[in-house]
Amino acid sequence: MEQATPLRMAIIGCGNRCKMYVGAFKAAPDIDVTMLYDSDSARARSHLPDYPGARIASGIREVLDNPDLDAVVIATPDGTHCALALEALKVGKHVLVDKPLALNPAEAREVLAYTGQTELVLQLAFTLRASPFYRRIHSLVREGTIGQVMGIEAAEHMGRDHGASYMRRWQRNSALSGGLLTNKCCHDLDILYWLAGAPARRLASFGGRDFFNAGSRTVTHCSGCGEDCRFRYNGTGLNVTEEMKANPTKYDLDLCAFTSNKDIVDNQVVIIEYENKVRATFTVQMFSDRSDRTIHISGTKGFIRGTFMADSLTVYTDAEGMREIRISETSLGSHGGGDEFLVRNFADSIRQVAAPLSCCADGVENVLTCTAAEIARNQKRTVALADASV
Ligand SMILES: NC(=O)c1ccc[n+]([C@@H]2O[C@H](COP(=O)([O-])OP(=O)(O)OC[C@H]3O[C@@H](n4cnc5c(N)ncnc54)[C@H](O)[C@@H]3O)[C@@H](O)[C@H]2O)c1
Repeated sequence: MEQATPLRMAIIGCGNRCKMYVGAFKAAPDIDVTMLYDSDSARARSHLPDYPGARIASGIREVLDNPDLDAVVIATPDGTHCALALEALKVGKHVLVDKPLALNPAEAREVLAYTGQTELVLQLAFTLRASPFYRRIHSLVREGTIGQVMGIEAAEHMGRDHGASYMRRWQRNSALSGGLLTNKCCHDLDILYWLAGAPARRLASFGGRDFFNAGSRTVTHCSGCGEDCRFRYNGTGLNVTEEMKANPTKYDLDLCAFTSNKDIVDNQVVIIEYENKVRATFTVQMFSDRSDRTIHISGTKGFIRGTFMADSLTVYTDAEGMREIRISETSLGSHGGGDEFLVRNFADSIRQVAAPLSCCADGVENVLTCTAAEIARNQKRTVALADASV
């Protein structure tokens, strides 16, 4: 059979996320990553061993004006996504943009309005939705296995070390990340929306930062701290250049997770009612012993219960009783196999001129929900999504 001409793609933003994509692109022989661009060119160069066929672009115009590129993958910090996505669409590139689509609904809607005028694919990198675990749950729900969905409880328990890394990096500043829900839990709120099968109607939320606070600590960096602290920066887990690794304090890599300047919360709950009366709760906290996610979906004929890291689901129906389902595809790599599916789905959507698994409208709905939840938390009130303040 004739091989399809490879799709040529550039990755914009060469940090941790770019590293996570390596396995997914290796598993896609019909995609060539031919260009890497980062505003810090040393960071782009540090990825060359992973993307040996790529050229380093010296500026964003070199990427956007390159007629040989079919698509761009945007993996820059959150506040840059929607402007970069719009620019790329306007020069005719397909876009795989990381979540969140934007930091506020107005900007997200601007991208949506543009996608309405083009057949170019804009896919949101909702890796959780793309994972075999959540796709299986979604199929079971849509097949009617548990009847009509009535309620969903979901939780994210973030390991303390993972939580601490957020308190050191740009994610701790909501002007750059949109805050914990927008930056991190947008995945979970997307799953709730996808499984509920309708937009959110109203919600409430409570949250605070109750663990990663300075208390009596005053030291700013681990290098100046004599405390025997389990959160001491140990140089692992970040994809940074050799120069940065050699000088962690100069680059704030070893900021104290407790005394760092930040405005995000470390625990939050959200209660949502969807347009179809499905009701859901979501809980997140960033100081668990290890990272995991759990979900329980109640339907009129049974329930589905699952633990993401265990790759297992329990399905109960009145007709068939209890059964266990092992999700066998999860050896596929990062995000429980989500990244590999995401990249495959992006390429297939481009070739088949088809809607991707998570499209621009999903991104807009997600930004709306996260924004409404932040308004609810900050103003201590129930928020209707139709409220003009959202
Ligand atoms: N989908 C997922 O599951 C998932 C997982 C992790 C991160 N992310 C998202 O990926 C994005 C990147 O996160 P990260 O952890 O890799 O951050 P990072 O800080 O490690 O990397 C971001 C890179 O972007 C570069 N950059 C910043 N502004 C730029 C610009 N305007 N143009 C070009 N390069 C620019 C920085 O120099 C840096 O190298 C974020 O939006 C984050 O939310 C998504």
